[in-house]
Amino acid sequence: PAPGWSISADVVVVGSGVAGLTAALRCEAAGLRTVVVTKARLDDGSTRWAQGGVAAALGEGDTPGEHLEDTLVAGAGLCDEEAVRILVTEGPDAVRRLISTGAHFDTDDEGGIELTREGGHHRRRIAHAGGDATGAEISRALVEAVRARGLRTIENALVLDLLNDAEGRTAGVSLHVMGEGQHDGVGAVHAPAVVLATGGMGQVFSATTNPSVSTGDGVALALRAGAEVSDLEFVQFHPTVLFLGPDAEGQQPLVSEAVRGEGAHLVDADGVRFMLGQHELAELAPRDIVAKGIMRRMQERDAEHMFLDARHFGAEMWEHRFPTILAACRAHGIDPVTEPIPVAPAAHYASGGVRTDSRGRTTVPGLYACGEVACTGVHGANRLASNSLLEGLVYAERIAADIARGRAEDGLHARVPEPVSYPERPAHPLLAPEDRFTIQRVMTDGAGVLRSATSLQKAADRLQRLHSDARDALAENGKTSEPGVDTWETTNLLCVARVLVAAAQLREETRGCHWREDHAGRDDNAWRRHIVVRLNPDRT
Ligand code: SIN
Repeated sequence: PAPGWSISADVVVVGSGVAGLTAALRCEAAGLRTVVVTKARLDDGSTRWAQGGVAAALGEGDTPGEHLEDTLVAGAGLCDEEAVRILVTEGPDAVRRLISTGAHFDTDDEGGIELTREGGHHRRRIAHAGGDATGAEISRALVEAVRARGLRTIENALVLDLLNDAEGRTAGVSLHVMGEGQHDGVGAVHAPAVVLATGGMGQVFSATTNPSVSTGDGVALALRAGAEVSDLEFVQFHPTVLFLGPDAEGQQPLVSEAVRGEGAHLVDADGVRFMLGQHELAELAPRDIVAKGIMRRMQERDAEHMFLDARHFGAEMWEHRFPTILAACRAHGIDPVTEPIPVAPAAHYASGGVRTDSRGRTTVPGLYACGEVACTGVHGANRLASNSLLEGLVYAERIAADIARGRAEDGLHARVPEPVSYPERPAHPLLAPEDRFTIQRVMTDGAGVLRSATSLQKAADRLQRLHSDARDALAENGKTSEPGVDTWETTNLLCVARVLVAAAQLREETRGCHWREDHAGRDDNAWRRHIVVRLNPDRT
């Protein structure tokens, strides 16, 4: 059925974090009619929660080459070197353009950008804002710029499907919008170029640093649209997330790597620094190594968490440098000035996603992806700390340039597309919103930090049962009225969870942030390659 309303544009950007808004601003600056659609409010995604900062070779003596080296080491043999080269070479200017757009970074006594360190970086390379509120400042600046330039935005708009024209080319997206006046209900934005910037999928696990909106919507849409998705098994667990109990669920407070960058120590209950001797960088080893070090010590000590000790910072430094973390800890009854902080790893970042080339193009013509939803090849098997905001900036700019170039040189993206038809709704077996918790528990138990053939098979079986039940219900009850956002989110979570588990089952080795207890070593002969998935559209 045709949707209740439709509008036309040259580009529709789906998502409003650093990647989405940067893409939108650059497209608009290139003269393209741009519409931003976003599932909640403009600043509700993950960007706002980023603490540590943006990594770029901005410091004296630092070079893109050194940043490249550190990124490749963290990526454990699976980075696309050319994609990384683009990131580190174009990164410094992209940060400067972000500053011109209005973002204020913390400065040193001479007025230069103050830089800190994080895991895996051999230099001070991380630009930060508001001490530990970098993402909030970036989000503020980009949202203000979008408003100041009068870009068209539609909030509370859940993207449903990619639309195609008669020749099978991208023709826009259909949306489910809640309470936005003239754009209420199911509608469509017709556009020859669609930029997915929907963020990550941390909500597939019980405890995560990601906000509740990170439900893998973009990856699920891309899979349904026939695009290739890669590296989903590489889920990064942040080593130091405030431990709020073994049954804590949903978004958990992050304790930034920058706290270790400024000299905090990881200790066990006896105060022993267990990362010494495990890696030359000790607490500042790449993130997977620190997460594994913590998990190992937890197993040895039969403990639920370890501690991050930064009492030696003193009250003044805590208040000035890490005000967000200080407030979060105190809100949970822990004072980092006088006591060590209980920490444990939690799901943080999807290194994989929708596969793109160096211009952000997916395998579906007209469909682009950038930010956490994308797999540009930059992160390999384990993302280097603070490379994600940078990747969002650099590849969003490249996408805008590609769309503008295609339109100017080849007339690509210049037509007003006419979608040939709209998918039947709902076209897929749908889950009940409360199934989200089952998926999260199953994934945390079976496909979390530690994985094995047995744990993964158990997870796969349980997810398959959820899917079969939903399929049977669809067959029995037929189509219902248009489902709500919770239903779609849970259905998307199941879709990405199943692909993630299948990839993790296939990869019989331990590499980067994929840790198989039954295949302890890295196997470069068999596995120095990517697992790429494309869904068969005839099968649900
Ligand atoms: C942090 O501040 O530790 C997070 C940085 C990141 O995930 O890149």
